[in-house]
Amino acid sequence: MPVLIADFLNIEVAAAGYVDNVYQFHTRFQCNKPVRYNPRNRCFGWCMKALVVYYSLTGKTKLVSRVIAEALNATLLEIKEIKPRKLGSSIYSVGGFAAITNRRSKINPIDVDLKQHETIFIGSPIWGSRPAPAINSFIYQTNFEGRSIIPFFTMAGDNSDKALTNITAKIERSQGKVAGSFAIKSYGLSDEEIIARAKEAIKEYSS
Ligand SMILES: Cc1cc2nc3c(=O)[nH]c(=O)nc-3n(C[C@H](O)[C@H](O)[C@H](O)COP(=O)(O)O)c2cc1C
Repeated sequence: MPVLIADFLNIEVAAAGYVDNVYQFHTRFQCNKPVRYNPRNRCFGWCMKALVVYYSLTGKTKLVSRVIAEALNATLLEIKEIKPRKLGSSIYSVGGFAAITNRRSKINPIDVDLKQHETIFIGSPIWGSRPAPAINSFIYQTNFEGRSIIPFFTMAGDNSDKALTNITAKIERSQGKVAGSFAIKSYGLSDEEIIARAKEAIKEYSS
């Protein structure tokens, strides 16, 4: 199979003889990146779409996730809690406590075939220096074997170390390999500034 041969030889291939296969892959995964071998993910750049999965309560992580999905032509998937949280002062005691104690929450069924995605970005707001409960649920119920996972956070403060350590352990428990990460401060920033930071952060992962 030409794709496997190219992978084995680790070379750039876009020869005319492969056009049929190229077209079939292209159509199957509905990608529009150039026909080009990408040594970074040992794959043709377009052969598997990335997946961006996120939970967002107040819209900041959603904004960042959209920027990433657009930049990478990735599939975008929002995780929703079956019983949506109300914004108010109790969010910090209830939601914060749930996050600190590594709770999970009931989430909607995941409507995407994870096998079609080699790289999965997982976005969460930081709650109590940890990922949000809905993200804990997604990670807990998913087997990431063979997948590269890139967790990312939005946050009010400046430090995401604790949240990253926490989510990494959870991802590894679900057989995933963390291949990168980033965090974006949202507090006090306009949407335009958050978008600019997200674009900057994603440069590292674009081929
Ligand atoms: C319950 C709760 C706990 C939070 N805890 C933290 C925290 O520990 N550290 C931090 O930097 N920001 C914290 N934040 C702020 C959010 O991480 C930040 O506003 C984030 O960008 C919101 O993302 P969203 O709009 O996608 O929900 C907390 C927010 C909430 C609601």
